[in-house]
Amino acid sequence: MSQTAIEVRPLTPTIGAEIFGVDLGGEISNQQHDAIHEALMRHVVIFFRDQKMTPEQHKAFGRRFGKLHLHPASPNLLEGHPEILLIQANEKSKRVAGEVWHSDVSCDPEPPMGSILYMHETPANGGGDTMFANMYTAFETLSAPMQRFLEGLNAVHDGEHVYRGRYGWNDSGKTYPRSVHPVVRTHPETGRKALFVNRGFTTAIEGLNRDESDALLEMLYDHAETPEYQCRFKWQPGSVAFWDNRAAMHHAMWDYFPHSRRAHRVTICGDKPFYRA
Ligand code: SIN
Repeated sequence: MSQTAIEVRPLTPTIGAEIFGVDLGGEISNQQHDAIHEALMRHVVIFFRDQKMTPEQHKAFGRRFGKLHLHPASPNLLEGHPEILLIQANEKSKRVAGEVWHSDVSCDPEPPMGSILYMHETPANGGGDTMFANMYTAFETLSAPMQRFLEGLNAVHDGEHVYRGRYGWNDSGKTYPRSVHPVVRTHPETGRKALFVNRGFTTAIEGLNRDESDALLEMLYDHAETPEYQCRFKWQPGSVAFWDNRAAMHHAMWDYFPHSRRAHRVTICGDKPFYRA
């Protein structure tokens, strides 16, 4: 059955919208695809409820937006589907994916454009929400002198401290991505400027001494994590979130131990971040 118009309901004035009237496992018309893309560009993260997708359908939906990304470190992949990352936690977990504010794999030379998380199981007693922050707003609400100062700077994003030893196997021969990206990036589709540093991966601002860099990064993280620049999504089995990693950070709440939560993530390749005045 081909599908027609979708409905977009903003979740907050700043970030997030729920999308109704689309079956992501079905045939998505070009008109619907364009409307979904427009909603993502406008709201930075979009949400769908009550979806049913096979792994193939999940990947096919992702491929409408670009080539699929392969995670540089995680062995937690769905068997037979290396493009699907398993995001799961239970009573044996010592940590969970995404519990520090981050933009996915920002240590990659070409970090992912977007990620599509499909929830299979939510914790028995609630919890396990995900928070998203609008990094356009984070940039736009800085003072003009601070914006000008940051626009000339680059930052190091490192996978080493994030991934080394994390997955319980001997990774001594492995190297993890490390890249330098502009602190303020120009979004390649909207042309808007977004702050592009995050607690998960960013380790230093080039050209500053260690104290200056640490203090400036801490100020920027605190600022970007302002509650008014965020939305918070409460998952149900069948919910899907699609976020734009170029303009959003996210943080997965791990407030449900020892209960289980399980999701599949398809991640879409992006391009090299750049700054254009
Ligand atoms: C992630 O993709 O970083 C995890 C998000 C989540 O589990 O809510």
